[in-house]
Formats: sequence, C-alpha cells, structure tokens
Amino acid sequence: MKKKQEPSVRDRLIVALDVDTEAAAVEVVQVLSAQVRTFKVGSQLFTKCGPAIVQKIHDLGGRVFLDLKFHDIPTTVAKAGIEAARLGVFMFNVHLSGGETMIRRCLEMVGEVCEQEGLVRPYIIGVTLLTSICEETLRNDLGVTRTIPEQVAHFASMAAKDGLDGVVASAREIGAIRRTCGEDFLIVTPGIRPTGTPVDDQSRIATPHWALEQGADYLVIGRPILNAPDPAKAVEAILEEMEPR
Ligand code: C5P
Repeated sequence: MKKKQEPSVRDRLIVALDVDTEAAAVEVVQVLSAQVRTFKVGSQLFTKCGPAIVQKIHDLGGRVFLDLKFHDIPTTVAKAGIEAARLGVFMFNVHLSGGETMIRRCLEMVGEVCEQEGLVRPYIIGVTLLTSICEETLRNDLGVTRTIPEQVAHFASMAAKDGLDGVVASAREIGAIRRTCGEDFLIVTPGIRPTGTPVDDQSRIATPHWALEQGADYLVIGRPILNAPDPAKAVEAILEEMEPR
C-alpha cells in the first residue's frame, strides 16, 4: 500500500470526463483546470481517443484516473497496469473479482517496472461490486451466496491485505470499509450529488459533504458538473460544499 497523502479539498475532487469526443474532453479540462486537478478517463473516452487523451490532459496540467477496470489473467492485467504507469496516470483500477493472484502480480510487476524506469507508481485501486449489480444478479448470475454488503466487505479486506491502495465504494459502504481496512486505505466515491442537482440514474447518492464526513478520500463527479449551465460555477459550489465545517 502506498502511503496516503492528505489531499487538499481541491485535490479530492475527480471530474468524470464522460463525454464522447476529444474536443469535448479538452474543453472541459481547459474550462476547469484552474479549479480541478484530476480527471477520470473511462472506457468510452479511452476507446474513442486512445492513450493520446491522457497525454492531452497531462499537457493541460491535469492528472488522470484511468478508469478501465482491468480484469483478465494476472500477467495481462499486470502488463496493462505497466502501460498505465508508463502513461504517467495518477490512478488506475482493477476488478477485485480477478482474484488475489491477479492483484498481487499487478502490484509486483508495476512496482518493479516503476522502480527500474524511475516512474512514480500510480495508485492502484480495486473495484468491489459494480453498483448495477443487485442481490438477484449476484446470486443467480454470479453464483455468489454472500449478500452485497458481505461481498463488498470481503473484497475490500482482500484488497487491503494484498496491498492495493484502496477501493471504489459508494458513500454508504465507507464506514464498514474504513473499520476493516484502516485509515491509510484510499476510498474513491462516485454517486455524489451536490445539494439541489438532479439524481440522474444514480440510486444511492450522497452529498459531497456527507461523503467526506463518512471518510471518502476522493469524490468522482460527472453529470452535476458536465451538464451544469456553468461548469466552473458548479465546481465552485461543490468545492465549497466539500470544505470542512
Ligand atoms: O455523472 P455521475 O456523477 O453519476 O458520474 C459518476 C461516474 O462514476 C461515472 O463515470 C460512473 O461510471 C462512475 N461510477 C459510478 N458508480 C460506480 C463506479 C463508477 O457511478 N460504482
């Protein structure tokens, strides 16, 4: 586990670049770069634009959370992680359902290459269960007999034991994960809705203040910023809501 830095309020906000063109992504980064340091590139934008989009964001002064949720045999995930590290991303993630060998191989090989090549190792975090998975899907499709909270807790403690830097978790799961995995474990929380913004398709939402109060380290926010009439103003209000009271 990498030692957790104490990010400032501004550093704790990650804006999800859920847009479908490079031009749209670059515009968002340019408009917000004075206020926001970290941008999330997911599979849609990455598949459309390729690694060049990561370089573009870096050139504009931003950091990148590469949200490609790697899930494959251990060596393939490790090699994908190495390429993410060579791109210079700040953070990337892997599916914890890939198992402990996959997690450990990824940490080991990425760590080795970063040392050999003088790279800063990105934070490597785990995806527990996708929020789109319900109890029925877990039981019937995936054949898992644990409940969702039990499965999330199981994955989170496995991630911490294996040395991952943290997990993606909804605000409601933070307390239990903190208790099991300790203070140095990073918790990255999506599903955030600032006061007075539409819920969209998120079902278990939290305000920025509440999520931080629960113990989140980073908040991932997309549509409340991207769909706002004035995204910079929306960010300003969010940063204000994130300030400790
Ligand atoms: O627009 P919104 O703020 O809902 O975007 C949240 C971002 O976080 C999206 O990029 C979504 O894919 C991602 N995410 C999520 N729930 C998870 C994991 C990731 O909403 N459990």
